[in-house]
This record gives sequence, C-alpha cells and structure tokens, in this order.
Amino acid sequence: MSDKRVLLIVAGGIAAYKCLELVRRLRERDVRVRCVVTRAAKELVSPLALAALSGEKVHDALFSLTEEAEMGHIRLAREADLVVVAPATADILAKMANGLADDLATTLLLATDKPVLAAPAMNPVMWAHPATQRNVARLREDGVEILGPAEGDMACGEHGPGRLVEPEALLEAILARLEPGPRPLAGIRALVTSGPTWEAIDPVRYIANRSSGRQGHAIAAALARAGAEVVLVSGPVAIPDPPGVRIVRVESASEMLAACEAALPVEVAVCAAAVADWRPERVPSEKIKKEEGHAPPVLRLVENPDILARLARHPSARPRLVVGFAAETGELEAKARAKRAKKGCDWILANDVSPGTGVFGGARNTVLLITGEEPARRWEDLPKEEVARRLVAAIATALGRGSA
Ligand SMILES: Cc1cc2nc3c(=O)[nH]c(=O)nc-3n(C[C@H](O)[C@H](O)[C@H](O)COP(=O)(O)O)c2cc1C
Repeated sequence: MSDKRVLLIVAGGIAAYKCLELVRRLRERDVRVRCVVTRAAKELVSPLALAALSGEKVHDALFSLTEEAEMGHIRLAREADLVVVAPATADILAKMANGLADDLATTLLLATDKPVLAAPAMNPVMWAHPATQRNVARLREDGVEILGPAEGDMACGEHGPGRLVEPEALLEAILARLEPGPRPLAGIRALVTSGPTWEAIDPVRYIANRSSGRQGHAIAAALARAGAEVVLVSGPVAIPDPPGVRIVRVESASEMLAACEAALPVEVAVCAAAVADWRPERVPSEKIKKEEGHAPPVLRLVENPDILARLARHPSARPRLVVGFAAETGELEAKARAKRAKKGCDWILANDVSPGTGVFGGARNTVLLITGEEPARRWEDLPKEEVARRLVAAIATALGRGSA
C-alpha cells in the first residue's frame, strides 16, 4: 500500500482521539496519511500527535501563505486516493451537504475529485435530528459513503446510535476502498447470524452463553468485502459492527428468528450465532425476589425455535445455500454430520469448543467444513478472519462465482 494516500479530515468531535489509533494502523499498512484538522478538532486532539504518528505536516489553515506556496489547497485535495472524514461532526456533515467551504477542511471536501468516506460521531439526539438525517441522505445521494455511526454508550453519558465506528472497522473500510479486491458475490443477498442469544428469566436476569460473535461478524465482513449485500442479525456482543453490512440487533432466539425471516429472500444464509436451545417457560413481569425461608426458584425450560432448521426447511424462501455451525465438545465430525442431516442444511462448519481450545471468545479457530459431497476440509488454527475468507471463497465457488 506504500503508493496509497489518505487525506484524513479530523473534525471537532469528542471521538477525535480515536484518529490517533487509526493513523497508526494505516501507517502500519504503509498507507501515507495526511491530516487536516478543523479549528474545533484542534481543541480535542493534538495536531502534534497526529503529525508524529503520520510523519507528515498537519494542515489547518486555508489562508497560509507558506502552505499555499508549498502545497496549494487544490493539490492537497487531489493528491489522495481517498478522503476520510472522521469523526464527522453534525456541523461538518451539514456543511458538506450544502457545499459550504468556509475553512480548509470544507474547502478541500468541495475541491476534491476523490471518493469521500465519512464516519459520523455525535450525540444520539443530534444524529436523530431531522436536519442531520436530511444532510446524511443528501450526502449519500452525492456519492459520499457514510460509515456508521455505531450504537452504544456515549461520552456524554447517553446511549444510542452516534459512536464513531472503532478504528479497526474504519481501517478495514479504508483498505477495502484503497485496494478493492475481486467482488465475486456482487448482487448476492446474504444473511448471517452472530453472537449469543439472551433468554430472559425475569426483567433483570437472563440465560446466555460465551459466544463473542467474532466468527459470525468476520463472516459478515468477508461476505460484504466479496460484494454481497449482507444483513447481519446479531445477538448482544461487545465487538464493533463490521463495515458494509446492515445490522439488526436482537436479544432472544425468538427475536433472532423473526429478524431472519424478515431478511428473506436471500441466496446464502450462514447461521453462526450460538442460539440458546432453551428459554425459561414463564417470564414474570416483576423481578423474582429472594425471600428468607423460601427455596430457590425452579426454572422450567422450553425449547427455542430452531433457526437453522427453519431456514433450511423454509417452505417458500429457502436460501440456495444454508450453512450452519456446530459447536461441539468431542467427536466433532460424527456429531457435525448428524447435525447436518437433522437440520437439513447444506454445509456445517464444526468447531471444537471444549474448555482449553480458546475458541469461544478467542481470535482463532480450528474448523471442519462438511459439505456432504466431499471429505471434510480441516482448517487448522487460523485467525477467525481467515476462516471467514476461506468460507466465503467456498461459497463463491458453490454459487458458480469463482473464488473470493
Ligand atoms: C467537548 C466537545 C465535544 C464535542 N463532540 C462533538 C461530537 O462528538 N460530535 C459533534 O457533531 N459535535 C461535537 N461537538 C461540537 C462541535 O465541536 C461543534 O459543532 C463544532 O462547531 C464543530 O466544528 P467542525 O465541524 O468544524 O469540527 C463537541 C463540542 C465539544 C466542546
């Protein structure tokens, strides 16, 4: 990537500090980064730190004679392969949407002929404001790519959509645009489930499992990179949203099933979520009280809907390819083959989640891919991203789209 250049425009959002990490990660990939800061950004992140990490002068002034002599603002706007605005404040989005150019950052954004990627970050109420939504819709129409915002706890103490996507997801999105790979799944719709489900016991307690969502999220990201239009139905996880996918957040297995059915029709479904097999039969509307002298409550469980089997046996909209996961402890291949037959899915990716393997929550995975037509393929001790990439390559081949 040593010939690739990013012009990073840092606006005055509280998340501006995350740009330091982004610059560092881009430099690790040999991407050259030139930073421009707004007046507000200079209050929130140190231009000196940006200069040190990027190894380049940080620009902030439109009317600087030395800069115009050394490097005109038009050249600055054009000498990049990609312009990234992160964090994109409500203010800068409004200016971009209306073509204002009253400082260096906004002038560059108007003068550039390069693709622009903006990652909004602001208070959830600012984000939901009709003016911001109007501006974002107009920017999308103008061809600006909007990444995020993510949902979660905000620096201002509120909760909701408005967080800057994590540097990792920004990095992925930037690299994908700088070096677009083959897109064999362009035009294909895909559904991925990921993460655990939470089954309520009462309004404050729930049954869960140790799934982190890392494998499912990596598969969603790899499918999107290969050009698929991806709906990711995710249980509660603490990892960033993968770039380029539409995310539907759910808690329980029943909600997950409803979200999956709403996403149909799709050509490919990959069920990587660790869906709870059972849920409490009765969920009282009040918290179950611990009372002196009373025996502990007995939880009676009932079976949850089987999402994989429902999709694989869907009467009217069965995906062309249904892929399930089998998380087993011991006798992996035999159990996975039995599961494939029982659920009616096409492929099973089996992984051993015995204690000590570190698979649940970990960054690496060892899996068996069982397609039914050929001997099981074993992918040994790989990063979950690589497992995802190989699975997507296999999916592309199965759909007659060559390799991803
Ligand atoms: C501490 C602090 C944090 C701020 N964080 C944000 C933010 O996250 N998002 C946002 O849109 N505005 C935020 N603002 C308001 C912007 O800084 C303000 O609208 C400013 O005019 C933006 O200028 P710029 O878009 O040129 O950078 C913040 C302001 C302060 C004082």
